[in-house]
Amino acid sequence: MSSNRGFAIFFLELYLAAWSQEVAAGPLVVDRTRLGNTFDGVGGLSGGGATSVLLPNYAETSRSEVLDYLFKPNFGASLQILKVEIGGDSQSTDGTESSHMHDSETVDLHTGYEWWLMQEAKKRNPDIKLYGLAWAFPGWVGEGSGDPFKFPKQTARYLVEWVTGAKSEYGLDIDYLGIWNERSSDSNFVQVLRKSLNEAGHTSTKLVVKDGDIGICNDLLKDKAYADAVDIVGVHYPNDFADFSACHQLAKPLWASEESSSYDDMNGAACWGRVINSHWVLNKMTASIMWNLVGAYYHGTNWYASSMLTSVEPWSGHYEVNPVIWATAHVTQFTKIGWRYLVNGSGSGELPRGGYFATWVDPSSTDFTMNFVKISRDHASCTRPHLPTFQTSEENVTVLLAPSMRPPAELEVWYSNFEAYGNAEPPLFQHSTVQVHNNKFSLHIPVGAMITITTIKTGGKGSFQHIPPSSPSFPLDYVDDFQSTDDSRNARWFADQIGSFEIHRAEDGKRSLRQMVTQLPIGWSDKGSRGPMTLIGMREWQDIKVQVSFRLPAASAKRSPADAACVGVRVDQMWQNGVVLCNLAHVDAYCDIVRSAEHP
Ligand SMILES: *[C@@H]1O[C@H](CO)[C@@H](O)[C@H](O)[C@H]1NC(C)=O
Ligand SMILES: *[C@@H]1O[C@H](CO)[C@@H](O)[C@H](O)[C@H]1NC(C)=O
Repeated sequence: MSSNRGFAIFFLELYLAAWSQEVAAGPLVVDRTRLGNTFDGVGGLSGGGATSVLLPNYAETSRSEVLDYLFKPNFGASLQILKVEIGGDSQSTDGTESSHMHDSETVDLHTGYEWWLMQEAKKRNPDIKLYGLAWAFPGWVGEGSGDPFKFPKQTARYLVEWVTGAKSEYGLDIDYLGIWNERSSDSNFVQVLRKSLNEAGHTSTKLVVKDGDIGICNDLLKDKAYADAVDIVGVHYPNDFADFSACHQLAKPLWASEESSSYDDMNGAACWGRVINSHWVLNKMTASIMWNLVGAYYHGTNWYASSMLTSVEPWSGHYEVNPVIWATAHVTQFTKIGWRYLVNGSGSGELPRGGYFATWVDPSSTDFTMNFVKISRDHASCTRPHLPTFQTSEENVTVLLAPSMRPPAELEVWYSNFEAYGNAEPPLFQHSTVQVHNNKFSLHIPVGAMITITTIKTGGKGSFQHIPPSSPSFPLDYVDDFQSTDDSRNARWFADQIGSFEIHRAEDGKRSLRQMVTQLPIGWSDKGSRGPMTLIGMREWQDIKVQVSFRLPAASAKRSPADAACVGVRVDQMWQNGVVLCNLAHVDAYCDIVRSAEHP
């Protein structure tokens, strides 16, 4: 008896093995009656910090072309969300962005360039969502304590002024507001902020917490009043293989509110292409935002070459459209915020031989879009977090469209391969079509592929003729007397690193570049360094001559360290090394300095 039984089980196992292979090879069923969460979009992040600084003064027509590649629908990245830094007067990675309130009295809505960028984005895509987040705060919000939550009403007023100013000065609605990038959040503060926004009429501005790790989900579960004040949970560089059950219990949209930070080559595109798909399939995240939007920060500052598009030559107008643009286009050009994902198993899931696929449907029409991505372990890593090992191999899948999909006879196909090395022209966002027979179509998915299958016919691979050739050297001789720059703006091609330098009129009515930060800010990465500095030109310079006219504050104020004006060459962004010559002028309030650094 016992041996017979063993025999029977042996056959049953064989049968099961054969059956499960059959299922793996069977069609992937797509059924629009199985709606999942609402899609919240794919975005880019300007700031954190000063990553766009060289763009506002970029040579035209290149500047408009760069903006088209980022924001214009059916052209390039066609972004659905623009997240910007709320300038906080302190170093936030690649520089300082000017605050709208250097002190508690004055609101200046003409500082910085994020206002400009948001307007340019909206001009191209009125549906783009706007998201503001502070990295640093001016010192006054904490009254010198270094804690932005100690005087919650004051910090809330500071953020509400930014949201109000966006509307009153520029007609911009701020859709989402964060708290403090990758630093603490605070239950009481978030409740006060919510109340302050409502009182100012910004009831539709949603709050995102906390732009950091997933610990926030447990914090919110334990504190109902905190959770009630929050609309969206935004986590950074989420690990798809971590446990998100606490976040899911909150039943709030879960976003990768900062992602990538990866090199902007084919691997960066592979990382980004993978996560904008896998974050939904594995953990039900409904938006991803890439750091950073545009590489318009000097070579030699932090995280160079981690951008959707590189534009570091404002003088020549040269720019580079990185493959990350096309990974983004695979989703953004064929979906809209408000479309619904289809649930796991009915349009979304893991591919049998490794990789992911997701389906979005337009709830108000028969349109739908599918995206497939299969990246090998060697090419799938983003800068963080660590990825476990996994296998991928090429495969052929059959997709069965349920009657609910109203299958059309033909679908549009857009194909990229981010592992196609050795090709002179790797396939990036190539268009073709696929026929649907008996509600089915077949698809070959090689390793490295990102493939979009869609009913949407408006996709387009935008291009411009005659991008100016690269000319990496900063053009010398260079002179600026600042008289033609508008008040409150940053000076052309200067990149503030510590402190904020803006154009304002001196007592004689002439414009000058003024350092605006006199109290230590509540910093993000710089908690109190050697004091203000702004960069221009190239760290590689040798044998150059610099001439600067400057003025120090009245000598009566004996500050420590003493007021000084310095000129440096070959310095890093925190001027920890380089050659720096300072004039500690206590005597004359007006003097000129001429320094040359011919033998560094
Ligand atoms: C979706 O299905 C895949 C297998 O296809 C699984 O690995 C994943 O955990 C599922 N996601 C969710 C959110 O349950
Ligand atoms: C997929 O189909 C192609 C032909 O279209 C074939 O060359 C390839 O071997 C197939 N791959 C697998 C894994 O069956």
